[in-house]
Amino acid sequence: MNIDDSTTTLYERMGGEPVLRRLVEAFYPKVQENPLLGPLFPEDIRPVMEKQIQFLTQFFGGPMLYTMEHGHPMMRARHMPFPVTRERADAWLSCMREAAREIGLPDDLAGILLARLQAPAYHFVNQE
Ligand code: HEM
Repeated sequence: MNIDDSTTTLYERMGGEPVLRRLVEAFYPKVQENPLLGPLFPEDIRPVMEKQIQFLTQFFGGPMLYTMEHGHPMMRARHMPFPVTRERADAWLSCMREAAREIGLPDDLAGILLARLQAPAYHFVNQE
């Protein structure tokens, strides 16, 4: 692992697959319990969790797992069937912030991670 932060991916810095998995596994129960988000998701959350682990792996600079299995992410398009409001984007990011805290991700890394997710979250907003 390269100690120079500028050349090390966020994926590596956060601890790779095991930590990303713990993050996503802490995140979805919060999503399911959230009144704005929970109703949008299927009861069987496992398949969504697995796709999210694959997607965030590549989004944070790791191997291209999502694309290899599911093709081009087209994430905004994939969210079009669901009513994504600004309030829901806020809620999604809050769940991620809480999940990062719950798994004990260092504050500096959690801050970088949240900053990276903010742009896509608001980009997926597709209704008022
Ligand atoms: C802005 C608020 C967001 C809402 C309300 C939302 C909601 C959803 C919903 C309802 C699904 C479909 C679940 C199903 O399979 O039935 C989904 C899938 C997914 N979301 Fe989001 N999402 C949001 C933000 C994000 C962000 C910021 C990312 C990553 C940067 C993301 C990544 C994904 C991925 C990877 C999937 C699986 C796509 C697939 O089916 O292949 N989402 N999301």
